[in-house]
Amino acid sequence: MKEAEKKRLYGETLAELGSVLAGIDDSITAMATCAAILYAKIPYVSWAGFYRVVAPRLLRVGPYQGEIGCLEIPFDRGVCGAAARERRTQLVLDVHAFPGHIACDAAARSEIVLPILAPEGDLVAVLDLDSQEPAAFDEIDREFLEKAAEMLRPCLAVNASAWSP
Ligand code: SME
Repeated sequence: MKEAEKKRLYGETLAELGSVLAGIDDSITAMATCAAILYAKIPYVSWAGFYRVVAPRLLRVGPYQGEIGCLEIPFDRGVCGAAARERRTQLVLDVHAFPGHIACDAAARSEIVLPILAPEGDLVAVLDLDSQEPAAFDEIDREFLEKAAEMLRPCLAVNASAWSP
């Protein structure tokens, strides 16, 4: 997808996200809505969803769209584990080249995973997007998805996590 087209698409997507999330203070509602919007709007996304922090160094699948995702991911495994551990976005152009990548979908070729922080700064989840296209995600995706993560933040005050450090 051309750069201008991608920026236009994300502009629309984030505007929609902002309008539906206004006033929402329930983390499950916010995550489910965000996963549904990203999956519906971004054509190269084959899986969109959240893994929530449910115990020390353990992620469990949360609201998502796409094929069945694996249920639990320890912090020391996969792209999601790396994003949780480092609290940094992981942009993976080729999942086969990422040591420890977990293949929920054998056809997945590239992936981006972002840390999701609560208003107080605790890590409550990661947002994972997969694509069956190689190198589908780039710095434009990173920029806009990090904005989406910021937009989610005020919605995560209630039931943000079953476990807090
Ligand atoms: N590929 C991820 C696992 C989750 S699925 O892609 C839905 C990972 O390596 O952490």
